[in-house]
Amino acid sequence: MVRDVVGGGPGLTVTVAPPPHPGVVDHWANAEMEIDDIADQVLAGLAGDACIDVVHGTPDGPGVDSADTGSAEGTGADPQGRTSASRPGHVRRRRVPSEPAELIAHRPRDGRGRMSDATLSKTPPEFDPFSDEYFNDPYDLYRRMRDESPVYFNEDYGFWALFRYDDVRTAHKDWQTFSSSHGVDLSTLNTDPEIIKMYRSIIMMDPPGHDRMRALVSRVFTPRAVGALEPMVREVIGSCLAPFDHAESFDAVADFSGPFPVEIICRMLGVPEGDRQQIRRWLDISLHRESGQMDPTPEGIQAAIDSSIYLLELAREKRRLPGDDMISRLTQVEVDRGDGQMTQLEDEEIAGFAGLLGGAGAETVTKLVGNAIVLFHRNPDQYRKVVDHPGKTPAAVEEILRYLPPSQYQGRFSMKESVYSGVTVPAGYPTILVTGSSSRDERFYDDPDVVDIDRAPSLALGFGYGIHSCLGAALARMESRIAIEELARRWPLFAVDEAGCARVQMSNVAGYSSVPVHRLR
Ligand code: HEM
Repeated sequence: MVRDVVGGGPGLTVTVAPPPHPGVVDHWANAEMEIDDIADQVLAGLAGDACIDVVHGTPDGPGVDSADTGSAEGTGADPQGRTSASRPGHVRRRRVPSEPAELIAHRPRDGRGRMSDATLSKTPPEFDPFSDEYFNDPYDLYRRMRDESPVYFNEDYGFWALFRYDDVRTAHKDWQTFSSSHGVDLSTLNTDPEIIKMYRSIIMMDPPGHDRMRALVSRVFTPRAVGALEPMVREVIGSCLAPFDHAESFDAVADFSGPFPVEIICRMLGVPEGDRQQIRRWLDISLHRESGQMDPTPEGIQAAIDSSIYLLELAREKRRLPGDDMISRLTQVEVDRGDGQMTQLEDEEIAGFAGLLGGAGAETVTKLVGNAIVLFHRNPDQYRKVVDHPGKTPAAVEEILRYLPPSQYQGRFSMKESVYSGVTVPAGYPTILVTGSSSRDERFYDDPDVVDIDRAPSLALGFGYGIHSCLGAALARMESRIAIEELARRWPLFAVDEAGCARVQMSNVAGYSSVPVHRLR
């Protein structure tokens, strides 16, 4: 049954390609694998196990990775010599490291060494990025984390997190300490870097490989190149809004901010018209997280597989019959991989690029524009400024990105010990840089919880920072600006039915799946 779903047959090598987007990068295995391995994964996922190795697909339960016990099994050692086995069939277990001694020492206890009710109320805050609190509104918790536990170790999932602006910004620049080569999402950060290499995604690479591959596509996304796309972007956005010009209500995400970004990036990539919205549907399913679950659902794994196979097939087709689009051009470029030889990209690499860019286009702008509409409803004075002075729209985009960034954190792996806000982050741990918190840090911003589109410009950490800073930032800014301009022109007065809004539950992307809007007169 599974083989019918995924297509192909035994022996066919496929790439479960598209590691989606920053905000979005997730459980999409971009590794080469035999179709049987994929089928194993899907079956394992369908069996309902919470934790599944991305590449070799074996379900696991709670426990300690064999590598953590000091076993010499596997390859690709991390700085502490911990490894994950990559052989087929290896049972990979979620790492549950013991709590660092310095943190345990700080926990308040009663006379018998237990946490009493009285001390529990003073217990340091806990940050769970798979909790309802995180999915719905993490900002009060972020403030407590910045004040009380700015450099935090989560013992359940085994990761470190940085919450303050200065720490997040500095860590983003220090790729030697905080590597992307173990993946950038909590569900992949414990994966063997040898396996991550097979993802072939620039967001999961360190220099020099990262820089060589990023250069292949960066020309397409310069502000100048993106500027030339403005007529196309305005046409797509206008065509999504036009059907509602005389309507009394519409869903600002389902009808508008969901469909248009994927349409734009898929046009650029060369995805056929009829398939473009399917890319977004696959992504939405694969990024969804049940509360308390770090890993995707079985349906999510299946969606990732389906999407990967689709993009690989598309890359092969474009190599045979190139058109005037990015995927076709990627089939023709050559790259020096550091050995002085110029070689073409493999189809799997092209599918990886397409998956990353498609994921970016499909998710983050959708969330930013949805967040904008809710924020304008809650701050009508700020919307008035945009309606009356369209020239303020770019500043509004920056403020929305600061206030409610679609990408809440970026994952890294600590390669060496470092000290942040006086606390040592040890080598060898998944570490997340919580940009969602940093952009509300009162140590850096005046009145950070106030939406003010006239705020003085500052570095947009919402697009990341350093070598992995958002490649599509110019496109994202232009799409968001035009979306808000068109909304302001066609819907100068509106209200959101907040009770009818629905939020997504995604690993590191925040926003809405539904925002009902009605016209005010
Ligand atoms: C509002 C919309 C967007 C937001 C908030 C956003 C945010 C981010 C962030 C935070 C990163 C850094 C990831 C990291 O450090 O691990 C990033 C990287 C990236 N973004 Fe975006 N992004 C947006 C739109 C886009 C668009 C439209 C595209 C292209 C179509 C795009 C393509 C990329 C790529 C390719 C990277 C990886 C760059 C690298 O690893 O060198 N993004 N983005």
